[in-house]
Amino acid sequence: MNALKDSALDLALLSHELPDFPITVLPTVTSTNDFLKQQSPQLQLCVAEQQTAGRGRLGKQWSSPAEVNLYFSLLWPSQKKTTALNGLSLVVALSIVTVLEEKLGINKYLKVKWPNDIYWQEKKLAGILVELNAEQAQQQNIIIGVGLNVNMLQLPDTPKPWTSLAFILNKTINRNPLLIALVKQLLVDLAVFEKKGLPHFLPIWFAWDYLLNTKITLQIADKKITGIAKGINEQGYLLLQDETSNIQAYASGSISL
Ligand code: BTN
Repeated sequence: MNALKDSALDLALLSHELPDFPITVLPTVTSTNDFLKQQSPQLQLCVAEQQTAGRGRLGKQWSSPAEVNLYFSLLWPSQKKTTALNGLSLVVALSIVTVLEEKLGINKYLKVKWPNDIYWQEKKLAGILVELNAEQAQQQNIIIGVGLNVNMLQLPDTPKPWTSLAFILNKTINRNPLLIALVKQLLVDLAVFEKKGLPHFLPIWFAWDYLLNTKITLQIADKKITGIAKGINEQGYLLLQDETSNIQAYASGSISL
């Protein structure tokens, strides 16, 4: 068995619970992020049963088999300057763990991994891809893409360890109510982020941080930097302590443990 199946994504139910903006439900799409790039720049949601070219960070592919997981994107028109949007993917990660804890009772072993991953017991459970679509005079159109492994039990040829909610909870999870809870939480947290910025979320990040006080290697292009992770700063940059106890902040890169 590849997966435990639940009911299909349900536009009527989603629109009833999230009545204030347009929702598109697609049986298949290349990428929900790419779909929203073609739409008008207003708050809206796109969710698909399957993606044929799902994308992750750094040009990686996001496996998106049909009808088992959540693949969705939210177009968020932000009033913030581009430079102030750095921490946004971190806030999205916190929204996801908040919902997984409050609605599904998952807390133990659940972690956020800088800059955009959710892990459970050292296995990837969800990923976030935030992209700036178009800048207008007073508005940045941000596309927030979330891939969450829900009922998937098999995925051939994956080099990295992964898990799903069905593995963690040993039961089928209904994706419609989960998606509704995730989008509601995201809208609350994005509104707070818009007003107060990342500093408001720093204590919450520290509580969920997978890397905190761990020895890691950060790769930026072909440069590798090893150090002890010390959380994030107010811009959302990763803090790394070197062997002389000097702490440096890094805006991006990929991490190995
Ligand atoms: C990562 O782990 O690098 C980010 C993965 C993000 C995947 C989601 S699925 C919905 C949206 N559409 C995409 O093509 N990517 C994001």
